[in-house]
Amino acid sequence: MQRFRAPAEMKAYCLSVRNEGSKIGFVPTMGALHEGHLSLVRASKAACDKTVVSIFVNPLQFGPDEDLESYPRRTERDCSLLEAAGAHAVFLPTSADIYGTNQQTRVVVHEITRDLCGANRAGHFEGVTTVVLKLLNIVQPQAAFFGEKDYQQLRTIERMVHDLFLPVRITGCPIIREPDGLALSSRNQYLSASDRQRALAISRSLYDAQEQVRAGERNVSKILGRSIPILQGQVDSIDYLEIRDAKTLDAIREITTPAVILAAAFVSNTRLIDNMPLNP
Ligand code: PAF
Repeated sequence: MQRFRAPAEMKAYCLSVRNEGSKIGFVPTMGALHEGHLSLVRASKAACDKTVVSIFVNPLQFGPDEDLESYPRRTERDCSLLEAAGAHAVFLPTSADIYGTNQQTRVVVHEITRDLCGANRAGHFEGVTTVVLKLLNIVQPQAAFFGEKDYQQLRTIERMVHDLFLPVRITGCPIIREPDGLALSSRNQYLSASDRQRALAISRSLYDAQEQVRAGERNVSKILGRSIPILQGQVDSIDYLEIRDAKTLDAIREITTPAVILAAAFVSNTRLIDNMPLNP
């Protein structure tokens, strides 16, 4: 597996790969890799000739009170995992490589980023779309792979790619869970044993909503009326637990087309997110 730090070198490698006629699959990450990320690498390898992974803890998507400094950085371990998973190249830029010293440009996707995580994390999605567009411009992959755990992020990136006519196919890959239901996340490492136990209430409340829909319930208030209490009392605060249209993320009252239930909650100081499809 080849390593690149400078954007120009990464770009030159990708250009030579494309000139050979090979199809590039791209997996952008912030490192601290787990099975969820590795499933994206596998999806890319199945669909493309060469897989490029980036590891970049993007300062622009962290708020001033968030965990930028403490975000886990495990570059050597991550590179070994990627090598074992068969990635062809890893891009390890620094902040200066990506943003230079006088960054004047931001990418903003408006409506879909307004609620949910966007409501409580000012500037977060702007940071995500700005860095993802930069990374896509450096790698210029034919396909890029994102986890469905960051559901609003995935829909936002799809919207950006659509609106800006970017020549890349975006693929969302299913959430990977621990056997007890906890969605894998690099932030799970912050949880103590008792936090981890309490965090299970998040997936439990989502499974309960799925169960209600399976049993025929379609009314959003009724479903949430049973799911919210499963979370309350276990997590320390609930950012949101909402049911939205699966594609647009618009608010809905009845589930008549594919929907999604999304949760964000704090367990101690750790903010966790999760979601599950609700199909009528
Ligand atoms: O999902 C992530 O890890 C990040 O938000 C991403 C897409 C790599 C952009 O920094």
